[in-house]
Amino acid sequence: MLDHQIELWTRSGFAFRLFLSLGGLIPYSSSVLVLGIESSCDETAAAVVRDGRELISSIISSQIKTHERFGGVVPELASREHLVKIVPVVEEAFARAGVSKNDVDGVAVTSGPGLIGSLLVGLSFAKGMAYALGRPLVGVNHIEGHIYSVVFENPPVQYPALALVVSGGHTNLFLVEEPGVYRTLARTRDDAAGEAFDKVSKMLGLGYPGGPQIERLAADGNERAVHFKIPQMSDRSLDFSFSGLKTAVTKHLRENGLSVFNSDGEPTRAAKDLAASFQSVVVRSLITTTERFAVEHNPRTLIVAGGVACNKSLRQAASEAAMRLGIDVYFPSPHLSTDNAAMIAAAGTAKLKAGAYSALDLNANATLRLSDVDAETVKLRQGKARHRL
Ligand code: KG4
Ligand code: ZN
Repeated sequence: MLDHQIELWTRSGFAFRLFLSLGGLIPYSSSVLVLGIESSCDETAAAVVRDGRELISSIISSQIKTHERFGGVVPELASREHLVKIVPVVEEAFARAGVSKNDVDGVAVTSGPGLIGSLLVGLSFAKGMAYALGRPLVGVNHIEGHIYSVVFENPPVQYPALALVVSGGHTNLFLVEEPGVYRTLARTRDDAAGEAFDKVSKMLGLGYPGGPQIERLAADGNERAVHFKIPQMSDRSLDFSFSGLKTAVTKHLRENGLSVFNSDGEPTRAAKDLAASFQSVVVRSLITTTERFAVEHNPRTLIVAGGVACNKSLRQAASEAAMRLGIDVYFPSPHLSTDNAAMIAAAGTAKLKAGAYSALDLNANATLRLSDVDAETVKLRQGKARHRL
């Protein structure tokens, strides 16, 4: 039990809490048990993680059944379902872990980016739990969580690393010079890669989420059948763009009067070829850019994470690129590629160990960016310039 809790507040509003017990500081250097909570989109998840890399339990309640008939996530329905699921999911995570709530040393929760109503459910629950247990709370950026998802099943990441985060909401390539220090090298200018899979799947009359549907269809198709160009920015930046590709698929469907299913209800060859060609250009776009930045920055590890990292064709292309570069490539297993709370607990543990706790007035932020060393430097310079006036 904690006997004293001293809060030191900085002028910027961040709270640095020093938890003292009779014996001194909580021994964060020894075994640390963290509860993670994730509710940023359509998965309610809780996990118990030891020392930031030992997965004790991970429970994910997916809302796919609720949203699939709409072909995408309906935010209002998502928030309501999180409200119903959050308590049983957390209870189940503790039951499976075989630990009591009082055994945890901290509570890590996704504070953004994501759907605001969904985020607020997990965040409010986590705050209540941290307060009731007298344990520190730590807000985690969902994208940083995805980067940490590789820690469970791979050797330790060697830095500098390149991290490609590809999901339904994000497509970012980061240079990670050291743990927790991110530089954005490329991002999508429009749709995320997973979103492109979801939209093309919807166009073809297939289900949600679209990634697995397209991958299944593509497995039997010819990726050279339809020629799609790798989308490029007019300003010659290496940022990604996937919305033009979606338009190209619509055009191809219209111009060729393509039927997706034959009279037996089986997918047609033309649909399989289209899926394979689309998947191939998305993968080539992601990997070509990643490889170009890898040549420039000489990373020691390549991390590929996020829901789209489930895609076998992407995994194969990333593995081949890593082999050419002579570096290791780490993926999370499919359970940890899509949204989960284990990755949030892992990222949160690093912050807890560094004493970077969040205050109980932490708010959810739907558009939270991963702090970017370049952006921080610009802010610092601007701050200095103002000072000189
Ligand atoms: O990480 P995630 O669960 O949620 C976000 O943070 O967005 O990613 C979900 C996305 C969806 O767009 C889904 O279609 C995509 O990941 N996805 C895939 C595959 N499995 C899931 N995309 C391509 N191939 C897959 N096998
Ligand atoms: Zn995600």
